[in-house]
Amino acid sequence: MSSGVISPPKEREQVVGKPINRVDGRLKVMGAASYAAEIPQENIAHAVLIQSTIAKGRIKNIETSEAEKAPGILTILTHLNAPKLNQMQQGDIVKGALGEKLVPLQSDEVFYDGQHIGVVVAETLEEAKYAASLVRVTYEEEKPSVEIESESPKAYQPKQFFGEELQVQRGDVTKAFAAADVKIEQTYTTPIEHHNPMESSASIAVWNDNQLTIYDATQWVIGTRNVVAYTLGIPEESIRIISHFVGGGFGCKGFTWWHSILAAVAARVVSRPVKLMVTRQQMFTSCGHRSRTIQQLALSATKNGKLTAIKHVTTSQTSEVDEFIEPCGLTTRMLYACPNLKVVHHVVRVNTGNPTPMRAPGEAPGMFALESALDELAYELGIDPVELRIINHADVNPHTGKPWSSKYLKECYQLGAERFGWSRRNPTPGSMRDSDYLIGWGMATATYPGYRSPASAKAQLFADGRAVVSSATHDLGTGTYTVMTQIAADALGLPVERIEFKLGESSMPLAPVAGGSQSAASVAPAVQGSAQELRSRVIRLAIDDESSPLYGVAQEAILTENGRVFLKNEPSRGETYAELLQRNNLPILEVEAIANTAASESQQNSDNKVVRICVGKDENSDQQQYAFQSFGAQFAEVRIHPRLGQVRVTRFVSAIDVGRILNHKTARSQILGGITFGIGMALMEETVLDQQSGRFVVRNLADYHVPVQADVSDIDVLFIDKPDPHISPIGVRGVGEIGITGVAAAVANAIYHATGKRIRELPITPDKLL
Ligand code: MOS
Repeated sequence: MSSGVISPPKEREQVVGKPINRVDGRLKVMGAASYAAEIPQENIAHAVLIQSTIAKGRIKNIETSEAEKAPGILTILTHLNAPKLNQMQQGDIVKGALGEKLVPLQSDEVFYDGQHIGVVVAETLEEAKYAASLVRVTYEEEKPSVEIESESPKAYQPKQFFGEELQVQRGDVTKAFAAADVKIEQTYTTPIEHHNPMESSASIAVWNDNQLTIYDATQWVIGTRNVVAYTLGIPEESIRIISHFVGGGFGCKGFTWWHSILAAVAARVVSRPVKLMVTRQQMFTSCGHRSRTIQQLALSATKNGKLTAIKHVTTSQTSEVDEFIEPCGLTTRMLYACPNLKVVHHVVRVNTGNPTPMRAPGEAPGMFALESALDELAYELGIDPVELRIINHADVNPHTGKPWSSKYLKECYQLGAERFGWSRRNPTPGSMRDSDYLIGWGMATATYPGYRSPASAKAQLFADGRAVVSSATHDLGTGTYTVMTQIAADALGLPVERIEFKLGESSMPLAPVAGGSQSAASVAPAVQGSAQELRSRVIRLAIDDESSPLYGVAQEAILTENGRVFLKNEPSRGETYAELLQRNNLPILEVEAIANTAASESQQNSDNKVVRICVGKDENSDQQQYAFQSFGAQFAEVRIHPRLGQVRVTRFVSAIDVGRILNHKTARSQILGGITFGIGMALMEETVLDQQSGRFVVRNLADYHVPVQADVSDIDVLFIDKPDPHISPIGVRGVGEIGITGVAAAVANAIYHATGKRIRELPITPDKLL
């Protein structure tokens, strides 16, 4: 075997933190990364969904006889003949969550426009579409209710959002407002928005006897497996969910939606693999949306800028078929130090499908209101907006009273302001011009919780010196494949090229939903734990092996690097992992680690091959003691033509603290994506809901505007990059959603600075500025 030149021992250089290219980049560029709808299957049949065209009422008649004679037709499922499915109660997000409780094809009732009322399966997609066009549905129609208003008599006050209190009171806001030097009170609104990932949802269901495999576009293979098992009434062990690549999710693939289950039902009925693709139009009704919000915000402060009271009352909509609440006020509870606070959430049931998490649910619309109001207060007080936020900096979490695990928000303000050139800002609205154009500079705080959930991973070392590490997590384009490979490389002492990280299969070790920006924080410790234990086993194997050059050597004297185990002080004395495993007739060494669970004891040697260990037990107590939250500062420059009202975001600076950065390139890309969608939220995105018909009348990408390349200019992303000492030994809190938070407010504040017009209604389209 190669004995080559052995480099002298040095501090091993870490791969973690380096901006290496995506390990899956080549596959993606070559078009070789297969998404759910692209997995080839023999003898596949095609399903299309039939959806209601009324928003409330009953199906009087569903006439399928003509469609049944159409060429290539295999089956038509409606409420008259569909198999019965189990209704699932909500609330168990650890196990799995349905996007919508209402089980489709079980009754003639219609609760919203676009509700699934039939599935047509045929030999080809074209034949299925044609047959579906021949199905005639008549309805008994009732008037839908889709309007919400802040004082709606139909509103109710929900208690919790995934365990977080939605109705919160601290001190006495009424008294504080009465005594305040300065008070502002305004209403802000945000429209219905849709996720619109590039990859629309799709499922291919394949039955083999009683074993079901679904190739699915999902952010949560484990959750989908559990939901499918429950609704179909079959054991979890009989189901495999596979999702190797996802073309964006943004929340609409976080919970399981019924199309995935209907694909499995259809495949069972026709006894063939079935592909069901949700069309772009159907994406507007089949996998959730963000609710419209009406937010009343009142702030009071002393002359010196100290906040004395905050009141944030949100009204949003939910559905008649389930309940999801846009939790706009949760951030308001903790973002600034303020003795008196009232946070209220009202919600109104309307005839739409159920809303669902989307791009920082709560934070994104909630911080548009709060951070716009802060800017209004800054002008009222004549205090610089950055300064006002520093004056009200929260040194501990004001809602829970817990100390922060780590917080560098003041550093973010400073870094961002410096890079942006904030000190050169003339605060007077309309004072900064470039020839005909008005220039505006605005800023806002960014924040998102630092979630972490139990996760596990398996590390395998093969006799050829290669390693495979796997976990049932996801890569939504975020870089999971890459950063987990980096973590494993450092922990195993192997180069990145000799590690394959696998994800996206429900049969792999358990991982949480790729939502809440928690994948890196949750999965990385499990990957590191399994890889480190595997490396220790390699070292012990060498020490115990009489034929090894390291036989009998003390463990501390040994280093590993580049797939080799050797003596620290005598690097030529050692051997490769491959030599060691081969000589010992070990085709594989394998370790599974479960990170950050309450489970107490490691199970050693369950079958003498797989070692299962628990890591991160100490971190459980940290999770109770500290408040984990990421922070940042967003700075926007806009350029507006006063007679056209068109807003261009010409410059953006984002300074972000998310703990340790695992890969500066992929982390930066996530923030770029967040800011881009923040610009969309500020200026373009809006789904119009027709009040008469209860129908979304914006339902394609020609009408639903998102930023394109020409809408996004110069974006500077700065990271604090200091490990969070309490979240895990790795110190990463995860990037993800924080990128969008505060962006819409920063842009709106910049627009005010440019024009003197305070627009409190998103999106800020040209008509609102003329
Ligand atoms: Mo995200 S909206 O938590 O998928």
